[in-house]
Amino acid sequence: MESEELMEKIVSLCKRRGFVFQGSEIYGGLAGTYDFGPHGLALVNNIKNSWWHTNVHEKDNYYGIDSAIFKDPRVWEASGHTSGFSDPLAECRVCNTRVRVDKELGRLGVAADEKMSEEEINALFDAHKNEIKCSKCGKSDFTQVRAFNLLVKSNLGDFTSKGDSPVYLPGEASQGIYLNYKNVVDTMHPKLPFGIAQIGKAFRNEISPRNFLFRTREFEQADTQLFIRPNENKDAFERIKQERWDWYLQLGIGENKLRVKQHDNLVFYASDACDIEYEFPTYGFDEVEGIHDRTDYDLTQHSKHSGVDLSYIDQQTGEKFIPWILETSMGVGRVFLAVISDAYTEDEMNGEKRAYLKLKPAIAPVKAAVFPLVKNKEELVEKAREVYLDLKKEIPSAMWDDNGNIGKRYRRQDEIGTPYCITVDFETLEDDAVTVRNRDTGEQERVSVEELHSYIEKHL
Ligand code: GAP
Repeated sequence: MESEELMEKIVSLCKRRGFVFQGSEIYGGLAGTYDFGPHGLALVNNIKNSWWHTNVHEKDNYYGIDSAIFKDPRVWEASGHTSGFSDPLAECRVCNTRVRVDKELGRLGVAADEKMSEEEINALFDAHKNEIKCSKCGKSDFTQVRAFNLLVKSNLGDFTSKGDSPVYLPGEASQGIYLNYKNVVDTMHPKLPFGIAQIGKAFRNEISPRNFLFRTREFEQADTQLFIRPNENKDAFERIKQERWDWYLQLGIGENKLRVKQHDNLVFYASDACDIEYEFPTYGFDEVEGIHDRTDYDLTQHSKHSGVDLSYIDQQTGEKFIPWILETSMGVGRVFLAVISDAYTEDEMNGEKRAYLKLKPAIAPVKAAVFPLVKNKEELVEKAREVYLDLKKEIPSAMWDDNGNIGKRYRRQDEIGTPYCITVDFETLEDDAVTVRNRDTGEQERVSVEELHSYIEKHL
C-alpha cells in the first residue's frame, strides 16, 4: 500500500472509530488543534500510565509533579524562549501564505533546521527559492526569511507589576519542573541523582501545523529531568537513552520502525542531544522524543533571573553546586500516532478483507467487548448484560456492543483494537459458557463464565 494512502486510512479510522476529531469541528475546525474521543482518550491514558509507571513508579528516586500552566513572564526570559525560541518563516508575496523554510528545504533534501542563524538559512533559501512552491497559490515568490517566535501569549491580567511582558502559555512543559526543583529538594530531601517527572501541556504558534497529530499548536509532553552532579552526564545520558528506547519496545512498537538520531546542530540550551524517531507512513522517520543534556543552563538561568539560589548542598560533604540536568521529553500525541500507525494491519479473515489495530492488549482502549448473539431474546440479553456487568467490575474498559450483526461488531472491535470479543449465545443459557474470539487470529474458544475474568486477565 502507498504510504500516503495508509496515513489517510489511519486518519479516517481515528475519526470513524472515535479516536481523534478535528478541534472545533462544527465551526469548520481550528488549525493545529485536535480533540481525543472516547477510544482515543483511553489509548492516550494507557500510554501515559505506562510512561508514568516506568518513569516514576518503577524508580525509587523520581518524583511526579503537576505545575500551573500560567507562569511568571520572567520564566520565559530566563529560559531563553522570548529571544531564542523561533522557527524560520517566509511569506508568499502573492497570497501571504506562511511557509516554514527549514521544512521546505528539508523536503528538497537540503539539510536545514530551526537552529541555524538567520543569515545561514537566508543563504540556503535564496539558493533554492525557485524550487519551492507556495502550497496555496503555487507561485515561487517569497519574502526574506525571518525568525518567528513560537510562544503563545495570553491576556492573563495580573502582570503589570512584573513589567509589560505578557503571561505566555508554556512553550515547553519542562519549565514547570525547574520552577519546582527547590520545592522538591526542600520537601522530599532527595539525594543526587534524582529525577522529577511531569506530563503537561505545551503550546506553540507553529507556522504550518501539519501531518495530523504530528505538528499541532497545543500538545502534551511527558518529561523527565534527571538532576545530577556536574560532569557526571556522559554515562547517565547513555543509560537514559537506552531506557527510553526499551520503553518504546515495551509499548509494542516494532524495533525496525525506530531509530536514534544524534543532533549535530544543538538548541540553545543543550550540550548534547538526540531524538528517538519513528518511521511514520507518509512523513518517514521523524522525532517522537528529544533527549537533551542541558548541563547547568536551566537552574543557573532561573537562579539569576529569580534571585533565588538554586544550588544543591550535599548533606554529607557540604559541597554546594548547581546540578546538571538530563532531560527526556516525549510528545504524547506523536507517540499516540506512532502506536496507531504501527498497529494498523490489513489482512483477510474468512475470505473477507479487514483492517484492525494490532495493539498490545495492555494498552488497547477496550480490553474486551461483550455481545448478545441476538437483540430480541430477553433472556439472552439479560444473561449477556449480567456477564458484561460482572466483567466490567474487574476490567473497567470492557464494553457492551449490540449494534448491527455479529460480523459488523467484530469488524468494529477489530478497528478499535479490542483483543477479545465475547459472545453470549443460546448455549450459554445451558452451559454457562461463552465464546471468546481472539482479535489477531480469529480463533474462538469456549470459556466458562466463572473463569472469564481470569482468562482475559491472563491474556492481557
Ligand atoms: N523541553 C524540551 C522540548 O520541548 P522539543 O524537542 O521541542 O523539546 C519535545 O519537544 C517533544 O515534544 C518532541 O519530541 C515532540 O514529540 C513533541 N512536540 C514538539 N513540538 C510539537 C508539536 N508542534 N506538535 C506535537 N508534538 C510536538
